Amino acid sequence: MSDEESAVQAATSEPAAGAVASRADVVLRVEDLVVDFPVAHHGPKRAVDHVSLEMRAGEILGIVGESGSGKTTMARLVAGFLQPTSGAVLLPRPDGTLGARRTTRGHRDVQMVFQQSAVSMNPRMPVWKVIGEAYSPNRWMSKGRVVPKRRDGADGVTLESAVKAQLRRVGLPESYATKRAAELSGGEKQRVAIARALAPRPVIIVCDEPVSSLDVSIRAVILNLFERLRDELGMALFFISHDISVVAHLADRVVVMHDGKAVESGTAREVIDNPQDEYTRRLIAAVPSLERISLGEGRREATPRTAPLLGSLPRPALNVPGTNPPTAR
Ligand SMILES: Nc1ncnc2c1ncn2[C@@H]1O[C@H](COP(=O)(O)OP(=O)(O)OP(=O)(O)O)[C@@H](O)[C@H]1O
Ligand SMILES: [Mg+2]
Repeated sequence: MSDEESAVQAATSEPAAGAVASRADVVLRVEDLVVDFPVAHHGPKRAVDHVSLEMRAGEILGIVGESGSGKTTMARLVAGFLQPTSGAVLLPRPDGTLGARRTTRGHRDVQMVFQQSAVSMNPRMPVWKVIGEAYSPNRWMSKGRVVPKRRDGADGVTLESAVKAQLRRVGLPESYATKRAAELSGGEKQRVAIARALAPRPVIIVCDEPVSSLDVSIRAVILNLFERLRDELGMALFFISHDISVVAHLADRVVVMHDGKAVESGTAREVIDNPQDEYTRRLIAAVPSLERISLGEGRREATPRTAPLLGSLPRPALNVPGTNPPTAR
């Protein structure tokens, strides 16, 4: 049965066993998730340890924790790439309830942006095909093919114009449609990955460290892009980072993970201003600039991390010991 057929069936049939009524704004409910990975010559490794959480429509939920705390395992569970040992991931169904996925092939409403988007793209493929795959998976692609209406929101749109619209949305020129993925910079590849994730009009985008591999100069630009797209399109972001200052700046609510457990959760303001867990306090203390973050009503604004440079820059030649002319001080 295709995804479309399952969706129609779900819309017209009784709620499935295990489906629960959804509060209108909840788009993800994770119930008591456990993941044990078998490890040769050792007992199983518990990567996720009884985690429960909820995410609301249009919310940016920040998942933060150090390396090995279970963040990527959570991302794979939510995106449907991994089945839990126990517990459940509940997503909205067409009939308004929350329920488990019916297919192991993932869920069109949940898309993913990876840390290394390059590995999820064929480097020889032109950008229009990389994004176009989201419109016509497993099918022969042509630029002139008309995109199904419900996937793009517009009637009678060709694949080519749908792809160009997505490129504009993520701040890339339309001419990038014909570039090969290998020709793109890291930031440009990440924009294309975001455009591909947006194409099926998802309810949730799972972002696993989407700026960690980028140059520092481009990180803020991509984070601002995520925030703008969320404001424009209203999807929820399950946003993973090991950097609590990134999460504090971007997220509405934060879940702190440690050793597979969700040790603390709350609004970004509560968690940063008044951390309850010792591990959260350590994460915050490790980022000195975070202690200076002022959290305003609604929006959070970080204090500039470096003082602005005043006056002229020193001339390197004058700083070489023993070479400075007597007047240079
Ligand atoms: N397929 C696997 N088999 C065995 N153990 C695994 C597997 N995948 C993850 N783990 C273990 O589960 C734990 C959580 O891994 P996970 O990748 O979720 O951490 P993470 O928080 O994403 O870390 P990082 O910040 O380094 O990406 C780690 O101890 C990891 O070694
Ligand atoms: Mg990870």
